[in-house]
Amino acid sequence: MPFTIAIDGPAASGKGTIARALAARFGFAHLDTGLLYRAVGAKGGDPAQAAQTLSGADLARTDLRSNEAGQAASRVAAIPEVRAALVAFQRAFAAQEPGAVLDGRDIGTVICPDAALKIYVIASDETRALRRAAEIGADPAATLAALRERDARDAGRDAAPLRPADDAIIIDTTDLSIPEAIERAAALVEARIRPSSAPKYSAPPA
Ligand code: CDP
Repeated sequence: MPFTIAIDGPAASGKGTIARALAARFGFAHLDTGLLYRAVGAKGGDPAQAAQTLSGADLARTDLRSNEAGQAASRVAAIPEVRAALVAFQRAFAAQEPGAVLDGRDIGTVICPDAALKIYVIASDETRALRRAAEIGADPAATLAALRERDARDAGRDAAPLRPADDAIIIDTTDLSIPEAIERAAALVEARIRPSSAPKYSAPPA
């Protein structure tokens, strides 16, 4: 049975970095599901049709990481027909052996509710804005406003809103370095793959 890891969380929380690192370490495939919505938003025209006809070339565009592309993504991502058109591809990706890591907003709640491990990555608004601004070379204040607007839209929509699954484990990356965040997530995977490696609680001596 494939080992599926669902990683969700708000914009620029560090989920993509963690997802890529886990996939590389454990030999799993990785899917950045946000890229699907970014590509649909960037394609223009009827969003549902864009989602139904999404191609490799659409995903290879070099202009998908900008704040504007993020906003367009979150607008089309609220359309139920767009989400429905992308479900089968994501579930098929998740089902590959030996495992897969998918990061997004609804992986643990809708796409892979039976994932072996669900992680919900958060960080303070300011930290996320600084990281994203540095990553894409944008203004930090404008990036902060864009992230907040997008999070509010993603969490407030009716279709697969941004929220942690009941059984998700929260990782707050605000004060973690990238290696620290990766180690914390990797320890969770290890504990699920080899339960005996999980740290055990030992009762203090009576
Ligand atoms: O990288 P960042 O966290 O900023 O965003 P992303 O993961 O690329 O996602 C862009 C937008 O796509 C989000 O703001 C969501 O509106 C939407 N999205 C979604 O609705 N469901 C997903 N599984 C992934 C992304």
